[in-house]
Amino acid sequence: MTDLHESEDKLTPETMEMNRALRSLIEELEAIGWYQQRIDASGDEELRRILAHNRDEEKEHAAMTLEWMRRRDPALDEKLRLYLFTDKPILELEEEAEGGEPSSQSLGIGSLRGEDGR
Ligand SMILES: [Fe+2]
Repeated sequence: MTDLHESEDKLTPETMEMNRALRSLIEELEAIGWYQQRIDASGDEELRRILAHNRDEEKEHAAMTLEWMRRRDPALDEKLRLYLFTDKPILELEEEAEGGEPSSQSLGIGSLRGEDGR
């Protein structure tokens, strides 16, 4: 494979399978964006509808691949469980998970205080 960053003989079978899934996920996500651009650019209504259908199929492919990865990667599972399928402000989820104070840190006040000593 040409997309490896280390020599193949040093990589475990699990790493190789995960890399296949990662590459596939990247390709599916890129395809979603490419289809959307073609939808924007096309002047043919039927072609636009077909491209939109195909774009949404890529979302299904991406979701299936991500789920395969989640089932094999406990850290990814933990992060997805934290950030997905909630209506809370996303940055507050990290702060809550790390035990911080949501209101001040989400405005950047906490970090500013640290930098200038106030
Ligand atoms: Fe796909």
